[in-house]
Amino acid sequence: MTESILVTGATGTVGQHVVVALSDRDVTIKIGVRDPETVSEEITGEVIKFDFTKPETWGRALTAVDGIFLVRPPVVAKSKIGSFVEAADRVGVDRIAYLSAIGAEKNVLVPHHWIEKRIMATDMEYTLLRASFFMQNLLKVHRRDIVEHGEIFVPAGNGKTSFVDARDIAETAAIVLTESGHANRAYDLTGPEALDYGAVATIFSDVLDQRITYPNPSLLTFGRRMRRRRKPLGFIALMCGIYTIARLGLAARVTDDSRTLLGRQPRRMRAFVEDHADDFREDSPPNGPPTGNEA
Ligand SMILES: NC(=O)c1ccc[n+]([C@@H]2O[C@H](COP(=O)([O-])OP(=O)(O)OC[C@H]3O[C@@H](n4cnc5c(N)ncnc54)[C@H](OP(=O)(O)O)[C@@H]3O)[C@@H](O)[C@H]2O)c1
Repeated sequence: MTESILVTGATGTVGQHVVVALSDRDVTIKIGVRDPETVSEEITGEVIKFDFTKPETWGRALTAVDGIFLVRPPVVAKSKIGSFVEAADRVGVDRIAYLSAIGAEKNVLVPHHWIEKRIMATDMEYTLLRASFFMQNLLKVHRRDIVEHGEIFVPAGNGKTSFVDARDIAETAAIVLTESGHANRAYDLTGPEALDYGAVATIFSDVLDQRITYPNPSLLTFGRRMRRRRKPLGFIALMCGIYTIARLGLAARVTDDSRTLLGRQPRRMRAFVEDHADDFREDSPPNGPPTGNEA
């Protein structure tokens, strides 16, 4: 019998591509979204109303489901995700692929650490996809600086980051959910290279054929610009935390896991910018739905 996969976060950066990647495979797809109206009619799959904060929506979402692609939306409390994971286990879901973050196993402060443990305590087969920094953050959070100021404005110092393309993460999710050999495993998903933001700015300049710089702002200068844009303090603190990790050289580790799973090299930054060149031009709207985190 054809298996059924529930995709959460299906309108998000990774989830939208998981739906596409699964549609090439012999599975039925359940697309769990808060507002079914936001999902294009061209998308393959059964669209159902689903909200982590509304347990009354979980029953229909979990009915006759064999596997789950699980995303923790940044705005949802980890306890809600934990309760949902337990509900999935109770109704007999076989396996779960969880979008986690690289280093989560060692960092007790990040919600992913706690959620991973909750998943591992269930009877479900799990695969933890511990992703590095998404290339798509440049398209969402930092697009305005690139388009309006011709600069990549992040407080990452000269630290390197092993950027990964969300489309590659999505393909690996489809693989681990539909092929054998990935039960109770964790993968560190990075791109094929670690780049500092000066090198990223050079790639943007080459591909867009316009001057994009990296002014290498301090944490304070970055924080001030974000405050002028009335960004919430929590958001600014999160950004500073993330870029401090890069600044300290702790975001640079490149692994072979993406290549091994995909059977090809994961996408490079240059390919990402080429594919999205139009989205980085002034007259085009930002790609994808707003995350609430746009800078
Ligand atoms: N950005 C990075 O570099 C990075 C790196 C490693 C790991 N991660 C992790 O990736 C995850 C985010 O993934 P993403 O970037 O693909 O997501 P995203 O673009 O932030 O989108 C969030 C998704 O969650 C859905 N959502 C929000 N509230 C919901 C609720 N109450 N119930 C059900 N769905 C809800 C949204 O759908 P609607 O709004 O349409 O309902 C949307 O599809 C986070 O856990 C983050 O820590 C991010």
